[in-house]
Amino acid sequence: MITLRILIVLLGATLAVSAISLPGSPRSRRVLHERRDAPPHGWTLHRRADPDTVLPLSIALRQSNMHNLDDYLQDIADPESPNYGQWWTPARVVETFRPSAHTLDTVRTWLAEEDIASDRVQMSKDGGYLRANVTVTEAERLLATEYYVYQHEDGSEDVGCHHGYHLPAHVVEHVDLVMPTVQFETVRLHGYSKQRKRRAVAQAQARDAHAKAAGYMKRPNGVAPKKATQIWMDVEHCDQLATIDCFRALYNFYPNLTETKKNTIGVVELGDQLLNLGDLKMFLEKFNPNAAENVPKFIGIDTDTNAGNLTTATDPNFISEGDLDFELVIGLLGAEQEVQLYEVGSGGSVNFFLDGIDGSFCTFEGGDDPNIDGVIPNEDCGTAPPANVFSVSFTGGEDLPPFYMQRECQEFGKLTMTGITFLFASGDDGVASNGDNLCLADNGTAVPGPGNFLPNFPSTCPYVTAVGATQVDPGKSVHDPESAPTAFGSGGGFSNVFPRAHFQHRQVAQYLHQLGDAVDPRLFNRTGRAIPDVSANGFPTAAVIDANYTIVGGSSAATPIWAAVVVAINDARLAHGKGPIYSHLFADAFHDVTNGTNPGCGTDGFPAMPGWDPVTGLGTPNFPVLLKRFLALK
Ligand SMILES: *[C@@H]1O[C@H](CO)[C@@H](O)[C@H](O)[C@H]1NC(C)=O
Ligand SMILES: *[C@@H]1O[C@H](CO)[C@@H](O)[C@H](O)[C@H]1NC(C)=O
Ligand SMILES: *[C@@H]1O[C@H](CO)[C@@H](O)[C@H](O)[C@H]1NC(C)=O
Ligand SMILES: *[C@@H]1O[C@H](CO)[C@@H](O)[C@H](O)[C@H]1NC(C)=O
Ligand SMILES: *[C@@H]1O[C@H](CO)[C@@H](O)[C@H](O)[C@H]1NC(C)=O
Ligand SMILES: *[C@@H]1O[C@H](CO)[C@@H](O)[C@H](O)[C@H]1NC(C)=O
Ligand SMILES: *[C@@H]1O[C@H](CO)[C@@H](O)[C@H](O)[C@H]1NC(C)=O
Repeated sequence: MITLRILIVLLGATLAVSAISLPGSPRSRRVLHERRDAPPHGWTLHRRADPDTVLPLSIALRQSNMHNLDDYLQDIADPESPNYGQWWTPARVVETFRPSAHTLDTVRTWLAEEDIASDRVQMSKDGGYLRANVTVTEAERLLATEYYVYQHEDGSEDVGCHHGYHLPAHVVEHVDLVMPTVQFETVRLHGYSKQRKRRAVAQAQARDAHAKAAGYMKRPNGVAPKKATQIWMDVEHCDQLATIDCFRALYNFYPNLTETKKNTIGVVELGDQLLNLGDLKMFLEKFNPNAAENVPKFIGIDTDTNAGNLTTATDPNFISEGDLDFELVIGLLGAEQEVQLYEVGSGGSVNFFLDGIDGSFCTFEGGDDPNIDGVIPNEDCGTAPPANVFSVSFTGGEDLPPFYMQRECQEFGKLTMTGITFLFASGDDGVASNGDNLCLADNGTAVPGPGNFLPNFPSTCPYVTAVGATQVDPGKSVHDPESAPTAFGSGGGFSNVFPRAHFQHRQVAQYLHQLGDAVDPRLFNRTGRAIPDVSANGFPTAAVIDANYTIVGGSSAATPIWAAVVVAINDARLAHGKGPIYSHLFADAFHDVTNGTNPGCGTDGFPAMPGWDPVTGLGTPNFPVLLKRFLALK
């Protein structure tokens, strides 16, 4: 989706196009491809779109072999397979999934028949997208729809057709989705003017982008972060202040890293969330003095922030997530480990990040898909080298259009084929959506609760590792079993979009059997991909923010902790996918968390239980055993 500001700019350039006459070509039968029952929460339909407005129409072509993705992954991630651990090259991934010539021909021919001349149509590098600038009149005819301007509560406007759009019956199987139509992702924060961006950043607290920082300190309904009144330096008070030493003691995490330059970790900050290097240093000097000089390498993606900002930013609204993430990662991994900061600007789209690390995903050479990502001069496209492990403490409700989420998730799957591990926070609002506490009405619309459970995306994408949070119970020690946190609900549940991953089938079926009907079965989708996969301590986390010792928390804290564990395993040997961790061989590699619930949507949420559960996943890491189990795989 794009902003009106951009539309007006485009308008002048392409008025001539709108004069094109209606085609006389025969039309094949149209079928509804996508619709939304209602505009997303906070948006209302405002008026019909101007017929001459120009839309940068983007058609995501059906990719080849996508139905084989799980088999390909299994082939390289299943220890029983002869190809175990043999990651694909990016080029092989692109060639394998490139849309077929037949698909390309069918869609091109359809466009030509509708008088969208072929010289107006561009194709992305990996052949995945076709794009053309068309007027609203042309788009309405092409898609048998009506375009509207929508207004957000905050006054910003977007254009789309939430009632749905139609494709010819013979085209439908060749197209995943067309944009801008029913997507309302992130664009509200886009439109790349400094002024708009400043406003966007200012709004980020109240109405974050699609992916919200999964941090206790950012919960609109949560308790504010509080100053730590006493800084415990022992591991006897981890119920009151969870420090680096607490995590080491809890998970027996004393790695001796040797591949610290080859084996990289990227921490992703979306929406211009920053890190303050002074805070990082102050934290490390206190909790891991050896690592105090370790400074992350700055990699900017679509941002006007630069490495210099890392010494000046002090607003807790913008540094809390970044400070926490790096304090934990470097605090745990020490002086030598190379750590990269992927600073993603312009409002917080996960797609920006994907564009930055995977040039083949960009719609144009050196450019991108402006209707999703806004129009950005000199957009980064494949300019950021990917790391082996990515920690992303941002997630948001799974209430985007399903085709849109599926396409983005496929992209994670393709990158996973090349050996990259993505860890995403599972959220901090229990069974409701992260940050805004929405649930699903019976008609499928996201509404303030109560309602059906609404898990978070991208954590529900089966190709990423979803990380939930735990706590040491009040009065208990690091030697006692942890529980689900009580200060907030650890995000978890069942996807309504992605089916249950094959590798988790046995464990999840066992949980559902134990659960019986203790949770109303109408509230969640038992066939869906189940999250989280794993968990780690997420409260009450010690952090330095704006030069103060602060207590924060969330699956935001748990995710970088798990990322550090994965890095330490990779250091010894690449941890080949997460499928194996669900096998019985790994049963003793986790501390099972069996106590607590994750309330939300007017319910207590799910109960934690022995084995996997939708509150804490398989449990927290028992590092030495986890390492041993991975090394034992051939
Ligand atoms: C869906 O249900 C919600 C809650 O009951 C209601 O507010 C909304 O108007 C409904 N939307 C449609 C399109 O029926
Ligand atoms: C659409 O118009 C924009 C702005 O004029 C231009 O930068 C872009 O290249 C055009 N895209 C296509 C596919 O022609
Ligand atoms: C790292 O080295 C220390 C000291 O030799 C040892 O105690 C510890 O067990 C080692 N860690 C691992 C994971 O092997
Ligand atoms: C980063 O610093 C640059 C140059 O000082 C400034 O123009 C920009 O606005 C800063 N960005 C942020 C997000 O503070
Ligand atoms: C339940 O999840 C499956 C995916 O596993 C999906 O196909 C189905 O539409 C979902 N059902 C509902 C009611 O959301
Ligand atoms: C940090 O402490 C200073 C001085 O006490 C205070 O002004 C500031 O608001 C504090 N920041 C946070 C995030 O608590
Ligand atoms: C279970 O968790 C609660 C907090 O939710 C805690 O008070 C209680 O001690 C825990 N019980 C056990 C057996 O760990």
